[in-house]
Amino acid sequence: MTYGKYPQSRLRRNRSSHWSRRLQRENHLTTNDLIYPMFVHDGSDSQITVDSMPNIYRYSVSAIVEEAKKIYDLGIPAIALFPNIEQDLKTPDGEEAANPTNLICRTIRALKKSVPQLGIISDVALDPYTTHGHDGVIAEGDVHNDRTIEILQYQAHIQAEAGCDVLAPSDMMDGRIGAIRQILEEKNLNNIQIMAYAAKYASAFYGPFRDAVGTDSDIYINKKTYQMDYANSKEAIREVALDISEGADSIIIKPGMPYLDIIRMISDEFSFPTFAYQVSGEYSMLHAAAEKGWLDLDAAIVESLTAFKRAGATGILTYFAKDAAKLLS
Ligand code: PBG
Repeated sequence: MTYGKYPQSRLRRNRSSHWSRRLQRENHLTTNDLIYPMFVHDGSDSQITVDSMPNIYRYSVSAIVEEAKKIYDLGIPAIALFPNIEQDLKTPDGEEAANPTNLICRTIRALKKSVPQLGIISDVALDPYTTHGHDGVIAEGDVHNDRTIEILQYQAHIQAEAGCDVLAPSDMMDGRIGAIRQILEEKNLNNIQIMAYAAKYASAFYGPFRDAVGTDSDIYINKKTYQMDYANSKEAIREVALDISEGADSIIIKPGMPYLDIIRMISDEFSFPTFAYQVSGEYSMLHAAAEKGWLDLDAAIVESLTAFKRAGATGILTYFAKDAAKLLS
C-alpha cells in the first residue's frame, strides 16, 4: 500500500490548525481515566509532607475523608490507599495487616461512610507492616511465598469487610490472586474486584513511595526474588495470564513511563482492563525538573498521561490525578 508522496501528500495540512488537530486526535485522556494513590497515617497531624514528593501528604483519617470529598468533586473515579504504619506496630511477620481495626480498615470505613460513591482500591501486601520492609514473611532464609498467603487472605478479607471496592494484591509472589479470590467466594464477598499488580518490576523508581509509607531505610531493599527483572517482557505475558486465570478483574503494569512497551504488548495480547501505574519516582522526577525550570510541568503531566492511553492503557494510577483533573476540566 502506498500513502502517496510529497508534494501531493503534505502531513502538515492536517496539523495546521487547532480545530483540525482536535478532529484528528487518536487518543483521549479524560478524568475517567484517573486513579489517585493516597497515604494515610495514624497521628493527629492532619497532613504531613512527604519530602521526596511535592504536594503529596500523609493524611490523618479525618483529613483524608475531607480530601476524598474534593477528589470525588473533581470527578476522579477512585483512589488507591496506602498506610503509613507506626514503627511499634511493625513486626517481622506483619500481623497488624490482619487486625480488623487497623488503620487501613478504619480509613475505609470512614471513607465509605462519607464519600460512598468514590471507588476505594486497597493494597494487599505486607511491606507497610513488616520491620524489614519486605512484602512477605521471612522464613528458611527466603521471603517465603506460601507462608505469606494465609495472612494475605486475612488482610484481603478484613479490608473487603470494611467496605473497600477493589483489592490490589501488589507483592508479585505466586498464587495470591487465586487464594484471595477463594476467600472472597467463601465469605460471600463475590462482588469485590481484584486489580492485580500482574507485572510489577523490581525498580529504582519506587524510592519516594518507600519514603511516603515509611519503609525507607539506609539499606536498599532488594525485591528481585519476587518483583520482575526489568530486562524481561515475555515473562509479563505469563504473569498476566496466571492472574487472569486465578480470578483478577483488571491488571496493573508498573512502573509506567519506562514500561510503555509492556502496556502495549499486554493490551494487544489480552482483551482485559489494563492499568498503568505512573510511580512515585516518575512523579518526583517531573517535579524536580520543573522546579529547576527545565520543563513545563502542566504540559508534561498531560503528555505523559496521554502517552499511557496511546500505549493502550485503560486508565492510570497517578499522583498527578488531581492536577490532571483540573487541567482537563
Ligand atoms: C509495595 C508497593 C510499592 C509501590 C506500591 N506498592 C513499592 C515497592 O514495591 O517497594 C510503589 C508505588 C510507587 O512507587 O509509587 N507493596
